[in-house]
Amino acid sequence: MKVTFILQDKSECTVEAEPGWKLMEVAVDNAIPGIEGDCGGEAACATCHVYVAPEWTDATGERTNDEQAMLSSTFGVRENSRLCCQIETSDDLDGLSVEVVGS
Ligand code: FES
Repeated sequence: MKVTFILQDKSECTVEAEPGWKLMEVAVDNAIPGIEGDCGGEAACATCHVYVAPEWTDATGERTNDEQAMLSSTFGVRENSRLCCQIETSDDLDGLSVEVVGS
């Protein structure tokens, strides 16, 4: 599957991802700027904050409870904000596009 990260300078970076990874891990593995993954994917740092493209918000699902709690104290949160460590890659998400928020 492919995922496109829209970087803070609005350039796009499309990478290959194996199904079953956390989207944060895909980003870190590909050195996507603005995605740090400091807490290791525990929804406890918000250094993996992204805005999911509107056409993908349904497919990526609901925020988890821990994610919701973290986002409630995070700067710049929008309706389509997600912590991308809480999104698991799958073939259903082939073509996913997210915008990196950065911290
Ligand atoms: S990696 Fe820390 S919240 Fe996602």
